[in-house]
Amino acid sequence: MCGIVGYTGPREAAAILLGGLRRLEYRGYDSAGLATVEGGRLHLRKRMGRVSELEDLLARRPARGGCGISHTRWATHGPATDANAHPHAGGRAGMVGLAVVHNGVIENHARLRAELMAEGFPFASETDSEVIAHLIARALETTHDLLEAVVTILPRLEGTYGLAVCSASHPGLIVGARMGSPLVIGVGDGEHLLASDAAAVAPHTKRVVYLEDGEVASLTPAGLDLAHRERGPVAPRIDRIDWHPDQAELGGNPHYMIKEIREQPTTVVDACRGRLSRRDATACLGGLNLSPRALRRARRIVLVGCGTSWHAALVGEYLIERIAHLPVEVEYAGEFRYRNAPLDDRTLVFILSQSGETADALGALREAKRRGHPTLAIVNTVGSTIAREATGGIYLHAGQEVGVASTKAFAAQVAVLTLLALYLGRLRHLSFSDGLAIVEALESAPGLIEEALKVEPIVERAAEQVATARTALFLGRDLLHPVALEGALKLTEISYIPAHGYPTAEMKHGPIALVDPQTPCVFLSARSPLYSKTLSSIEEVRARGGHVITIGTDGDRVLPALSDTFLPIPDAPEVILPLLAVIPLQLLAYHVALKLGRDIDKPRNLAKSVTVE
Ligand code: M6R
Repeated sequence: MCGIVGYTGPREAAAILLGGLRRLEYRGYDSAGLATVEGGRLHLRKRMGRVSELEDLLARRPARGGCGISHTRWATHGPATDANAHPHAGGRAGMVGLAVVHNGVIENHARLRAELMAEGFPFASETDSEVIAHLIARALETTHDLLEAVVTILPRLEGTYGLAVCSASHPGLIVGARMGSPLVIGVGDGEHLLASDAAAVAPHTKRVVYLEDGEVASLTPAGLDLAHRERGPVAPRIDRIDWHPDQAELGGNPHYMIKEIREQPTTVVDACRGRLSRRDATACLGGLNLSPRALRRARRIVLVGCGTSWHAALVGEYLIERIAHLPVEVEYAGEFRYRNAPLDDRTLVFILSQSGETADALGALREAKRRGHPTLAIVNTVGSTIAREATGGIYLHAGQEVGVASTKAFAAQVAVLTLLALYLGRLRHLSFSDGLAIVEALESAPGLIEEALKVEPIVERAAEQVATARTALFLGRDLLHPVALEGALKLTEISYIPAHGYPTAEMKHGPIALVDPQTPCVFLSARSPLYSKTLSSIEEVRARGGHVITIGTDGDRVLPALSDTFLPIPDAPEVILPLLAVIPLQLLAYHVALKLGRDIDKPRNLAKSVTVE
């Protein structure tokens, strides 16, 4: 989704801004632009399309200066065009002197636009964001102080914003403000950066300050001032980024998605590091900030997320109910935040989010918090808004996930939910030996995922036919039901082949109508008490001439005989089957998209982190 990068310091801003925008490309965008201040002049350059197109424009029309702001836009109000790209200039006709970049949505933009147009402010775009630039320009006419002008107009904005402003009349100064859309300051030596994602500042400095809602920052090369717009000055709290930007390099892989699929053995090691206790046959989850007594009191768990995080939560439902015997409900964050879901004081609410910035997930967390519930986060991005606002939680430690299609974060979420189920189970009835079996299963998972990844050449061949399909079905039971849903989402989002995931038993209640020789039906069926029931469902598809792909345990003699393609995964304890069964599905989506020539790491219309509702 939209990205912001700003820089003020002794170096040429444009090169640093372009580098920062490149680091944010993974978030998804459709236009890019920047503005720099050189002496008393403002240079504005913007282009629909990729950052490389902005770079070409800058090669022809350079924008010099040591202070500037930049943006990648993911269209909401108005299509992707040069005019709608940010930055937006503010000022009366012929008097443009400042530029604004904005993430978020200004809900009252139409009213503000009408008011500004009536006063003679010219509008060049269809965006909601342009009103901010003109509001600041109008305030500047009386205040003559950029920071004061920004603070003056903020109460007029209804909605969400993370914004950055620079002005020809204030060389070297960047003003940033946050309400509902993340901003982070990079603190360098004699220079400062401002970005919507720490990934953009990480190559320049490890010292960062995360802005909270309502805060306004003013940055010069030498100074950083922070204030809450109502409560006054705030002492900046400097955090350290604990990951290296090189972690986000491709390392010889053609795409981030395949790199991240292949990283999953390490992902699970990192998610479990220091959290498994053989001595007590349990998990150690200190960050929950709830006493064992408080956790034992819980009578119900609600897991909330979107997309892949929601699928991981569904795996969590099966695991927690099975291992800890606690009722679990899984909620879509976008529904939960507005639904009057009954919660009592013995319900624990967990918000799952890779990015920690998803607007719906954040809204759900705030709703649970508003009702007085402790809110627990299962989040990957350290320092993200959800991580900071939750009362406790568990970090995934998966490292930066760049591919828009979430893969290794799913593995980390499932591993962490298994730890949670184990911990809650051992606080209740789960025996030492049953707990130890889960500890051992998790310890064996990284090696088994490594084994599972060896299926790639077979998947590549299967992808040939799937790539020609108009639709596909993914079916699984029990713990593999959410994995089937995840397989369908992966294929849909990066190959654009509409795929549907169902519990296998649901097939005969409707989806079977899709079965024909051109429709791949992907069945997940490792050894489990429901194995024979899945065999019957496969027979039903075969009887109708369907194309059958199965994922099952290596050494299975029955499934290969019933399948057009059999994709083996290693034999493993049931609790870690989701971590293994998802591997062929992620690889299948990847190879189908590759064959179709899709933009794998940046699929159309999608954003890595969905920071608007
Ligand atoms: O960062 P989050 O986990 O909150 O993101 C939730 C979804 O937007 C995300 O999982 C999305 O569905 C992915 N593109 C799936 O691959």
